[in-house]
Amino acid sequence: MSASTGSPAQVMAPDFYSYEASPISNVAMTEAGITVLWSDGAKLNCHRFWLRENAFGLGGIDPATREGLLDPAELSDDLAIASASVTPEGHLEIIWEPDHDLSCYHAGWLRHIADGEHLASSWAPEPVVWTSKDLPTPAAFNAQEVVAQSGTRALMLNELLKHGVCLLSGAPSEEGFLNQLAQVVGPIRDSNFGALWDVRADVTLAGDSKTNTTANTGYRLGPHTDLPTREIPPGFQFLHCLVNEAEGGSSTLTDGAAIVSELRERYPEDFDILSTKHWIFFNRGPGIDHRWSAPVIDYSLGSTLPTIRAFYPVRAFPDMPDEDVDLAYQALRRFHQLADDPRFELKFRLSAGDIMCFDNRRIMHGRDAFTGEGRRHLQGIYIDRDEILSTARALNRELGCVTV
Ligand SMILES: [Fe+2]
Repeated sequence: MSASTGSPAQVMAPDFYSYEASPISNVAMTEAGITVLWSDGAKLNCHRFWLRENAFGLGGIDPATREGLLDPAELSDDLAIASASVTPEGHLEIIWEPDHDLSCYHAGWLRHIADGEHLASSWAPEPVVWTSKDLPTPAAFNAQEVVAQSGTRALMLNELLKHGVCLLSGAPSEEGFLNQLAQVVGPIRDSNFGALWDVRADVTLAGDSKTNTTANTGYRLGPHTDLPTREIPPGFQFLHCLVNEAEGGSSTLTDGAAIVSELRERYPEDFDILSTKHWIFFNRGPGIDHRWSAPVIDYSLGSTLPTIRAFYPVRAFPDMPDEDVDLAYQALRRFHQLADDPRFELKFRLSAGDIMCFDNRRIMHGRDAFTGEGRRHLQGIYIDRDEILSTARALNRELGCVTV
């Protein structure tokens, strides 16, 4: 028998979390591995190869990185469980054949799997779909508190994941504050518009050649999502208002998930077309040629909610049979009419020091037209959904803010 993982009191989990004691009551051998049982009826089936991959040390889990080291090509048909037992503290102990290695598994870690706390959906709130009646105004948090206090940050991230939107107020009206926010929330996703990008009203009027985006004109921008031209559009967007002296330019927010629900229920044919017929989205510019073909309601990215690809300035070409184009336009008109309907759309004015935060793949944002008389300057960043989810899960596990 080779070295043990230590006394049961020192049993390590294959990650960096602390697990409460959750003593196992029994363990039974199965054809492929074992079944772990608890006295309250919970159970967990464990394949022997999976157990070996998750053996702490022994070439399974690296104690330093807590990542797996075992190449599946090295898993042998000869690998078998010689015995499986419960230690006096209630942990799982395995003796392996043919090498007689001993490995010990933390019962609390095994239990968190039996309880589903390892699932990708765990430790983050479920999305809740809203209309303007359900959510007349986004929840607001103090920007400085979000940066300084992990508790407020957790509440803010959970709201962002639940409703897809929140407001931060009281941010300094200084350029680059979003970098401070990103340092505690998650790494910025860069694009051809820059890691930290500006939306300035005083840059131009329509037709000015200095800008490469409709955002920097005074035109109205109907409800849309940014960068549908990418295979995976940016997950979250943070828009920091530094100056807003221009007339008009109210901001709008619409829950795309609510539009999808309305379409499914009342206009199923339009929903079918919008979720299956492709368009080519195209960011054009000197040295720039981003394009992606996908439906407006895109379920291909594996989330429970579809990714909304709706930015008419860059929806360039139908990518569908000619005979479908007419119906596709009818469905598209319906989609955008609903997105603009006051039943779904919130409208408010951003003031200096406000930061509008939203899920860019779910929530459609827009703004009314404004005049070029006063200055209007916003700065924006994107942060991918993976990063927001990672920060939220870690905080929720640390602070116990969200149950599984
Ligand atoms: Fe935008």
